Parts: sequence; structure tokens; C-alpha cells
Amino acid sequence: MSEDTSSQHWRRARVLINSDALLNNLKRVRDYSPNAQVMAVIKANAYGHGMLHAATVLDSADMFAVAMPQEAFALRASGCTKPLLVLHGFNHVDELEKFSALNISAVIHQSKQLDMLIDSNLTLPVDAWLKVDTGMHRLGISENDAEHYFALLRNSSNVAKIYIMSHFANADERNNELNNKQLDRFIKVTNDIDVECSMANSAAIISMPKSHFEMVRPGIMLYGSSPFAGVTAEELGLQAAMQFEAELLAIKQLKAGDAVGYGSTFVADRDMTMGIVAAGYGDGYPRHAKNGTPVWINGHRCQLIGRVSMDSISIDLTGVKASVGDRVVLWGRELGIDEIAAASESIAYELMCNAGAAYFSIR
Ligand SMILES: Cc1ncc(COP(=O)(O)O)c(C=O)c1O
Repeated sequence: MSEDTSSQHWRRARVLINSDALLNNLKRVRDYSPNAQVMAVIKANAYGHGMLHAATVLDSADMFAVAMPQEAFALRASGCTKPLLVLHGFNHVDELEKFSALNISAVIHQSKQLDMLIDSNLTLPVDAWLKVDTGMHRLGISENDAEHYFALLRNSSNVAKIYIMSHFANADERNNELNNKQLDRFIKVTNDIDVECSMANSAAIISMPKSHFEMVRPGIMLYGSSPFAGVTAEELGLQAAMQFEAELLAIKQLKAGDAVGYGSTFVADRDMTMGIVAAGYGDGYPRHAKNGTPVWINGHRCQLIGRVSMDSISIDLTGVKASVGDRVVLWGRELGIDEIAAASESIAYELMCNAGAAYFSIR
């Protein structure tokens, strides 16, 4: 666990990253996909876990993926020598030239990129990952164009190795019929081409072995969240890599009938003890967490009461032995992030990104 040493009295909510959990989760990826290489997805500051830290800890991954060129440049500047893929590819020639100089691979998902790549005069060729849209309808060229694009890439001296990839839209729903349709389309596109392929995100790594091909691309499972509603991270052998904690700021007594917080959305139906915790949506705690969302303190699961404020939340502390300054866990080892995400009508991806962004931005 990486500890916060900046202050003995660090009042703000803290994000602690458990390196052992990251390594455990990478091992789980290898267990699920023993014949594929692993491209660890560390975009969005490694889903809030700190990109450079995650890249150091996950050094045994075969490759890293980030969304934007600047993330890849930052990794290279920090000394990372691992193969890197930029999922958005490049939009400007200067970015492409930097890819070439820094040995960074690019996703090619639209014709503008293909033209730029072919027409450039690169010092060193780059690896190209041709992205085919098999049903997600986000980034990617159409299935019908794939063979033609592949041939153009193969004939370009600016291109080293070529891969073909696609991305699932609904892999987190095991029975969604689009999953197999997408896989079939991908197989149809790549069947007659001698090329290495990549398709599986975390959910597909676990539930669709036929989609593993040569390279899998895990994100969320590396950070210890379950990609499936109704299946816990623990059941999948995953461990929480992010611990989100804060301090108990105040303890107060409520009388029956007292309303709590903005909008007075919670009204005490009895006399209660209330705790105020020093974390709110400004720290990345989800603003839409409902009354009753669990919060852990001193071995107890307490309930959130009232609306989430910018820098505090209120919890029902009735019957709980607690003192001002006590450690409160918002999610982590003691409390699964997936449960908090469900209670907030959100997803663990968003919670991790927001907490990590708020925390790492002011350290
Ligand atoms: C292209 C691509 N591949 C892989 C991933 C990893 O997905 P997950 O975090 O669901 O494993 C993402 C994440 O959004 C992605 O955009």
C-alpha cells in the first residue's frame, strides 16, 4: 500500500493504491487468458490510480494502452520503455512524428489517419493497430473497408507491424446477443488475413475465451472491480487496488424530525447519532449516492444520510463507537466499490477516475 506521507494531519479524503492488488489482478488476467499477451489499459491516469505508478507496478504486462498521445509521451518521458499503444491514434503530423521517434504504436480508426500515415516521411516506421467497428459504433473503420486498409498499410514503408482490433459494446452483459455477433463479424474480417488480433476487454477476458486472440486489453479488472453486475470482484478473484478513505470530522445528535443536509432529503425518524465525514463530491465521492449507501467505520457498515455535499457526507452513527478523527472507508478492501457505484447509479470506472483525479491533482 502506498502511504500518504505529506502530512500527519491530512484532512482531505485520501486515495491509497495497493500495488499487491494490482499484481494479483494482472495474474488473474493471465489465468483467464493464458494464451494471450496482456495490454494493460492505463488511460485516464490508470482509471484514477496514477498512470506512472501503475506502469511501474504492472511492468510485467506485455504492453500498455492509453487514450491520448500526451499520455504516451509522459510515459516515455518517465523512462517507460514498454510497447505503448495510443487508442485514439494521432490527429496531427507532429504527433505521428513523435510516435515514430518514441516508438509508440497508433490505432488507425479513420481514413484521415491512414492518409497521414501513408503520406508522411517518418524516420522510423510505426506499428499500426487497424480498428474495425464491429458494432460498437464509436471509433473504427467499417468491416467492408478492412481488407483494403490493411493492404494499404502493408504496402507503406511508414508501417512496421500491423494488428487488427475491435471493441465490444456489451461484453459486461453475458447474454447480450450483440457480443457473439461482434465476434463473428471480427472473425469474418480477419479470417483470411495473416495478422495478430485483439478484441477482449475485462468482461470478455472472463466470459468470452474465443475473443482472446493474440492480445487481451484489460482495464477495470486490473483495478479490482467486477465487470459484471451481480458478480462480485471477490468471486472473480480480484482485489481492490484503490482505497478511498477520509476522516470523521464531527459527531452530532439528531432529534426525531430533524432534517439533514441540502434539500433536507433525510429526516430522522428517531433520535440518532450522526457522523460528518470529511469527503464529498469535490473529492470524487459520487454526488448521487443515495440515502443508505454503505460507509465503513471501525468495523461497522453505516449508512449515508442526506445529500452528498462538496466536502462532506453525513452518516448514521447510532450505536457505533467512534471518535472525531477516526478513519472512514468510502470504498476499498472493507467495502467494494461496485456496491457504492450501484447505490449511486454510476459505475466503478467513473468513481475511480473521479476520486483519483481529485486526489492526485492537489498532491
Ligand atoms: C479500446 C479499449 N480497449 C480496452 C478497454 C478496457 O476496458 P475494461 O476497462 O472494460 O476492461 C477500454 C476501456 O474503455 C477501451 O476503450
